[in-house]
Amino acid sequence: MATNRTFTMIKPDAVRAGNIGNILQMMNEAGFKIIAMKFTKLTKEQASGFYAVHKERPFFGELVDFMTSGPIVAAILEKDNAVADFRTFIGATNPEEAAEGTVRAKYGSNMGENAVHGSDSDENAEIESAYFFSMLERF
Ligand code: RTP
Ligand code: MG
Repeated sequence: MATNRTFTMIKPDAVRAGNIGNILQMMNEAGFKIIAMKFTKLTKEQASGFYAVHKERPFFGELVDFMTSGPIVAAILEKDNAVADFRTFIGATNPEEAAEGTVRAKYGSNMGENAVHGSDSDENAEIESAYFFSMLERF
């Protein structure tokens, strides 16, 4: 089922660097509308649950440590073709490979500290949105 929503997080590195405003402005200019938003800090349990799909990967411990190292901004965004367009907008996982002008090219530091998350499918967008937001928190 195709939907027009995706889920994102501004990760702890970008929050620490003072880039929340810059990244939200880029999202706005790219046509993503905010449906829900939360400033929060993940517990180890919450971060492990969110990235459970990666739990057997060698970088999992590092990923959980990083994602719990400071606050994040979680949001649901709406736009036509939201999931695919947002993945293009943020750029490749490794900021060194991210296309010029993308969020990760501008604000990412390395493979781990890459500034933003974006859902990789419509199904995961809804699962991830439900992890953070009830229906009553979506506008
Ligand atoms: P995300 O889920 O955060 O939007 O990133 P992604 O889809 O581009 O990448 P994914 O494969 O889902 O990996 C999730 C996060 O794990 C970290 N990672 N580190 N050291 C490594 O080889 C490695 N690979 C992935 C990254 O922070 C990535 O965003
Ligand atoms: Mg991913």
